[in-house]
Amino acid sequence: MISTLLTPQNGPGGDPAPRLAYGADYNPEQWPREVWEEDVRLMREAGVNLVSVGIFSWARIQPARDEWDFGWLDEVMDLLHAGGIGVDLATATASPPPWLTTAHPEILPVTASGETVWPGARQHWRPTSPVFRDHALRLVRKMAERYAGHPALVAWHISNELGCHNIYDYSDDAAGAFRDWLRARYTTLDSLNHAWGTAFWSQRYSDWQQILPPRLAASHPNPTQQLDFKRFSSDALKEYLCAERDVLREVTPDVPVTTNFMVMGGTKGMNYPDWAGEIDFVSNDHYVHPGPQDRDELSFSANLTSGIADGLPWFLMEHSTSAVNWQAVNVAKRPGDLARDSLLHVAHGADAVCFFQWRQSAAGAEKYHSAMVPHAGADSEVFRAVAALGDTLRELAPVAGSEREPAKVGIVYDWDSWWASEQDSHPTSLLDYRQEALDWYSALLSLGVRADIVTTRTDLDRYDLLVAPVLHVVPAPLAKELARYVETGGHLVTTYFSGVVDENDHIWLGGHPGALRDLLGIRIDEFGPLLDGETVRLEGAGTDTGTGSLWTDRITVTDPSTEVLASYRTGTYAGMPAVTRRPAGRGSAAYVSTRLGAAGLAGLLPELLAGAGVESELPPSARGRVEQAVRHHGDTRYVFLVNRTDEPVPLPGVTGELLTGGTGTEDGLVLEPRGVAVLRQSAH
Ligand code: GLA
Ligand code: GLA
Repeated sequence: MISTLLTPQNGPGGDPAPRLAYGADYNPEQWPREVWEEDVRLMREAGVNLVSVGIFSWARIQPARDEWDFGWLDEVMDLLHAGGIGVDLATATASPPPWLTTAHPEILPVTASGETVWPGARQHWRPTSPVFRDHALRLVRKMAERYAGHPALVAWHISNELGCHNIYDYSDDAAGAFRDWLRARYTTLDSLNHAWGTAFWSQRYSDWQQILPPRLAASHPNPTQQLDFKRFSSDALKEYLCAERDVLREVTPDVPVTTNFMVMGGTKGMNYPDWAGEIDFVSNDHYVHPGPQDRDELSFSANLTSGIADGLPWFLMEHSTSAVNWQAVNVAKRPGDLARDSLLHVAHGADAVCFFQWRQSAAGAEKYHSAMVPHAGADSEVFRAVAALGDTLRELAPVAGSEREPAKVGIVYDWDSWWASEQDSHPTSLLDYRQEALDWYSALLSLGVRADIVTTRTDLDRYDLLVAPVLHVVPAPLAKELARYVETGGHLVTTYFSGVVDENDHIWLGGHPGALRDLLGIRIDEFGPLLDGETVRLEGAGTDTGTGSLWTDRITVTDPSTEVLASYRTGTYAGMPAVTRRPAGRGSAAYVSTRLGAAGLAGLLPELLAGAGVESELPPSARGRVEQAVRHHGDTRYVFLVNRTDEPVPLPGVTGELLTGGTGTEDGLVLEPRGVAVLRQSAH
């Protein structure tokens, strides 16, 4: 559906063929009228064909309760259309105006300790406030009625980064909605009391009205209450998303609807796999956090976004041309990074490359955030790089609409396990779910092995090797599904703190990991978490040079067929198993009981990959230096080759029709330092 989003209805400049979208958030209300003309001219120069407009325009569109000012936006829409630029039009509900919060302070969120989140920034609204919803939906309807049929309108952009600042609200509205949510989940108080384990610490409820969000408490709040509050909070925003969507679908049934997700480091409140089915196409925002794994993290996030979109194309709705404004130190991108970062998203399924924002603000909290047109204007390195990327994306037009070609390795990313494994009062507070998954991904990248990040909703049978790091929450049906996966030939690898609890965060008793014990052919009778900085040595299966940190387990092998791939060489469990693998059915189930980190996993993975019959698709000399991602359209494959190094990398034997990047040689291809090449190949 989204590959046709930019077809000719979008004005005189529109191409009839699908193309990749290119653009940014566009905030013309921050600029005098005369700048708008220059904006459109420069957009055309840069190859921009899509902008998101109106995201923070509520106060401008509706200056008072019954006053509307659409004139300026009409003009912007018309100007963009005349320039051949499509509009992803925001519903403008992201930041309620001062007149609304003054009249209705009861829409403001409340923190766990009872403080009001005051206006002055943005997203100061309660997802469950009926008053906020009335006002917001009234605006959505006005917007939809006003711009229905406008030729520039190509998609609706609901709100903005739902949950970025307001995912957790502990207000009385939230308390009421939480109770409704719990009634729907548990039906009876008895069932809730059981699920929450309220026999503990005298927490038994005798009336629904007694139940509260996990507000500031004297000690550790009930863990299942916390977990359910996380589930509820994600659902509450999803429900809000659906309410806006329903208005849009009623008024403009033919215009696709999206909202920008935030699949990136540091964001975990929104269960996006669960949201994805509610919108017409997935969009994501991503910002680089500078550090040793930063581009691996970018690739991981793009890859996970593709998993959330179930391999269909998605939109990169925001990223940055250079520095952001909200990190401790806001590092400018190096030459080449703007293009490589963008194309890495395209490699993983993005059909749009958009930035925050078009023109760098002169005032406001984001005035030091980079943009497509920086403070310096068009005569700048950034704008030249922006225009060059516009040319590259034109060369890549044939890629639009193509889907992910599944890899042989899948890494399971599960929100319930993420939420539950990082709660308080656990064996360690140092566990980092996302980091563990990222380390497996980094290790596979370093070996040149392509992997898909998938969710528990994905068809797992696509994968020969399935890595499920810290799969902490394993309800009985998932345990059965994993056993079936292995029986029928799949090779499963899981890690410490997996299979420990059910969906209510109750321990599977009888020895860990209860839900996966038989499948793994091991039993753990005590966890051995390590102090910060403490490490253990291992031996066997390529683990000799690495160290384990964070966690160890006291493992007994319970099935004679379980192989001990590696053992502890030091520490409390010296001489005992550290990594095991049990052949089962036509597949196998392996367990890694400590945190090996990306380098340590790169030592162990060859054994696990060999067991599953998975090999790198890259020439040996390029493994680790090049990342490969593949999209396809029927029998046509688009192979993205991304140079991860600062040196040229030859790819002997790699051939195909070069759409962009790289230099063809007699026996293959050479990638420029940090360059990206895209080849078109036929699957036959
Ligand atoms: C988010 C928001 C944008 C902007 C950028 C800055 O992605 O959606 O409005 O604040 O962050 O990085
Ligand atoms: C204190 C409390 C107990 C229990 C332990 C846990 O001693 O009295 O109820 O919480 O701490 O260490």
